[in-house]
Amino acid sequence: MRIPLNDVKAQYTPLLGELRDRFADVLDSGRFILGPNVKAFEEEAAAYLGVSKTVGVANGTDALVLVLDALGIGPGDEVICPAFTFYATAEAIARRGATPVFADIDPVSLNLDPRDTAERITARTRAIMPVHLFGRPAPLRELSELGVPIIEDAAQAFGAPGVATTGVASTFSFYPTKNLFGLGDGGLVAATDDDVAERVRMLRFHGSRDKVDFHFVGYNSRLDELQAAALRVFLPHVASWNTARREAAGRYEELGLSDVCELPVDDEGHVYHMYVVRTPERDQLAAALDEAGIANASYYVTPLHLQPALRFLGYGEGSLPETERAARENLALPMWPGIAPEAQEDIVTTVRQAAGVHAAR
Ligand SMILES: Cc1ncc(COP(=O)(O)O)c(C=O)c1O
Repeated sequence: MRIPLNDVKAQYTPLLGELRDRFADVLDSGRFILGPNVKAFEEEAAAYLGVSKTVGVANGTDALVLVLDALGIGPGDEVICPAFTFYATAEAIARRGATPVFADIDPVSLNLDPRDTAERITARTRAIMPVHLFGRPAPLRELSELGVPIIEDAAQAFGAPGVATTGVASTFSFYPTKNLFGLGDGGLVAATDDDVAERVRMLRFHGSRDKVDFHFVGYNSRLDELQAAALRVFLPHVASWNTARREAAGRYEELGLSDVCELPVDDEGHVYHMYVVRTPERDQLAAALDEAGIANASYYVTPLHLQPALRFLGYGEGSLPETERAARENLALPMWPGIAPEAQEDIVTTVRQAAGVHAAR
């Protein structure tokens, strides 16, 4: 592809010297598990996010499972989440033996619809798990008014304003395309409740504090020292990366993309993990972009309530209409901090031509 969907290498290449120095320090120390970099990163991330504690874990999926476990959520419990999200959101709930309950999304924000969420609350509901989808903060204030604990799946929204401040715990993924990324798998739990943080800290290490006494049946799910070293290099850049993403989103709008498809509404807090437009002519536009060598992607085309592994939950086609429409219409265009304005012009011209409107504005 002439223009990729994202370019993580372009983000870390200017930092290679610093990365090599930090990795050399880890190699010299001979400490690879739960060493000083993990501890320092947890403190730096907590300060950045404005939470009291964070706990580094192996990936964003484990972060969700560990939070659910720490809250004692399991068989017989229900957790409300969207079906227009990555599979891991609901998988974590099912992995704990609890029941994912899907609420529909708001068609503009693509995030959980608080009204539909309210209607799905039962006596068994233990938590609501909104996802800050594509980097746009979910409506935390409205959701928290429903009186059920919130667990924020913030995998796609590191650094978005307000994220991680409402939930009893929030989870992040450092998969290498995320707003804050590692050089491999990694994850983080951010907690506003110190007891939850402490329990997650023990669960990530077999339910133990000291490798002597084991208090719970836990997991082995630790953030690696080398990943933490890289994350400490990247963390000071995430704010300017998020600003650059917002500028690139503004440029798409200026270039006239809104003449031919529905653009993501530019909420102040949106950090554009992905730049996702929507149009009923999605497949036609995707084919034109493919032909022009411009990478693009359609997310969650089979939403979670229709996934084979979750069929046992009993949702049929048509049960979540806005989710299913978003699955048919969404199209992600190239987005990363530092995407060239000329590349964006090419992309908009290609999309406008495919829709029968000529050239970028
Ligand atoms: C919304 C969401 N939740 C959870 C995850 C799981 O994160 P990981 O891939 O680090 O396990 C991801 C990421 O890939 C995600 O996008």
